[in-house]
Amino acid sequence: MRFFPEPVLAIETSCDETSAAVVLGTQIFSNIVASQAEMHQRWGGVVPEAAARAHIHAILPVLREAMQDAPPPGAIAVTNRPGLVGALSVGVSAAKAMAFAKGWPLIGVHHLDGHLMSAFAGLESDAFPGLPRLSLVVSGGHTELVLHREEGKPQIIGETLDDAAGEAFDKGARLLGLGYPGGRAIQDAAIAGDPGRYALPRSLKKEAFNFSFSGLKTATLRLVEREGSKISVPDAAASLQAAIVDSLSAKFEAAIDEFRPASLALVGGVAANTALRSRLQHLASEYGLPLLIPPTELCTDNAAMIGIAGSYRLALGDRDDFSLDVASNGRLPGQVD
Ligand code: KG4
Ligand code: ZN
Repeated sequence: MRFFPEPVLAIETSCDETSAAVVLGTQIFSNIVASQAEMHQRWGGVVPEAAARAHIHAILPVLREAMQDAPPPGAIAVTNRPGLVGALSVGVSAAKAMAFAKGWPLIGVHHLDGHLMSAFAGLESDAFPGLPRLSLVVSGGHTELVLHREEGKPQIIGETLDDAAGEAFDKGARLLGLGYPGGRAIQDAAIAGDPGRYALPRSLKKEAFNFSFSGLKTATLRLVEREGSKISVPDAAASLQAAIVDSLSAKFEAAIDEFRPASLALVGGVAANTALRSRLQHLASEYGLPLLIPPTELCTDNAAMIGIAGSYRLALGDRDDFSLDVASNGRLPGQVD
């Protein structure tokens, strides 16, 4: 894989993290993340208008800090899709202003491409694992199985039909009174819990590589209603986590059997989950396949992953001009059907 020969300044503002980073290929010089989680906690989820305003306050201090001790950049990458359009606009406007002032090349990055490329953080080019590569992307907005037969040409072979894996954690945590964001809270509560205590449904068997978590959400609601104040929150958290991990791992394994990849990757905010990490590590070693999982701080939203993805696209010759727009959705660059 080839990357842009100069350091790339990257910006990520697609949801509730304001982040800026400087990277050179897969090497990270700085990666500053200002989280708004505390603010959104009050409402139990992200409020788009409030998120956009918070990005306006945070963006320049975060950019300044990211550039402080890093080598001078020669290009700028920014998340422009998919995400909350107001939130994305703050990052894209800042990136355009800098590209204009400095004369740097500009590249808009797909948020999911950033998560996918986070698997390569810190890797030397001779350590890149083989193709085809099967990646599981699990975040607050996405649950996708992505196959790369060729670098830069992703194929989505499975996705969620309803809620994303992170939403399943967040909604479950809300029902159990554990607050927002729920993934880490469920993980912490589950440590003291019995995952076999409450029976909760797994993803649909008939849907080969697609996921579904809405049944789990309904079942958790029923459980909370049925048990009332008798409910053991640690046991419920452990049971919920086990149901999500089982569903993800079963589909991942089915896709390994079908597509026979040479390497595996686990990325996205939910990849920070320790139970999921160890389950997939176990699965990978059973198959004798290398599994890339970024360190936890690169699983949740950050600009370093956007920089790595942007650096790769810039090296391919991709550029955007000042007409670069934001979008709440959009296909991955190079995506094949
Ligand atoms: O990638 P990310 O930061 O943002 C999106 O692109 O959506 O993912 C956020 C999601 C949230 O749903 C959060 O609850 C989940 O990742 N998450 C976790 C953990 N840490 C974050 N889920 C399970 N276990 C964790 N330790
Ligand atoms: Zn994300």
